[in-house]
Amino acid sequence: MSEKTADAGLADTVRGLITPIVAVEAGPVLLCLQAVQQHYGYVPEGAVAVVTDVCNVTRADVHGVFSYYSDLKKAPPPAISVRLCAAEACQAVGGRALAAAWREACEKDPGLAADTGIDEPVFCLGNCALGPAAMVDDKLVGCADVARLKAAVDAAREAAL
Ligand code: FES
Repeated sequence: MSEKTADAGLADTVRGLITPIVAVEAGPVLLCLQAVQQHYGYVPEGAVAVVTDVCNVTRADVHGVFSYYSDLKKAPPPAISVRLCAAEACQAVGGRALAAAWREACEKDPGLAADTGIDEPVFCLGNCALGPAAMVDDKLVGCADVARLKAAVDAAREAAL
């Protein structure tokens, strides 16, 4: 498939996703970007122009919303997401040291880094009593350390098979 055909396919898909939203919502840029991300797992570069056009706003308007909400992603997500809590209660029980240790573990293991991407901090997972807390895909990990995180990543890998 040529790049031009792929771009047209993406534009058609995005237009189909967001046109019903624009028809019933006022100021729907965020909702449109969320719909695109829900479909693709991230917001492809080519989708921004379609959102701009369909919502009848400027590219700067879309970029402003896109850059404000950190949950909107510009690149495909890793196969397994690892999110370490960076909020106060977890920091008090070693959250920063865990983040550093996890970064080091990923640097030493390229397979681990490729599967999990870069840790995206999250601010409180509601598991403060068992901090430091983490989320591996959709599973909470309490009293997290590198070994527990690796075990959770291994379980997620097995679940994906
Ligand atoms: S502060 Fe980390 S789970 Fe609440």
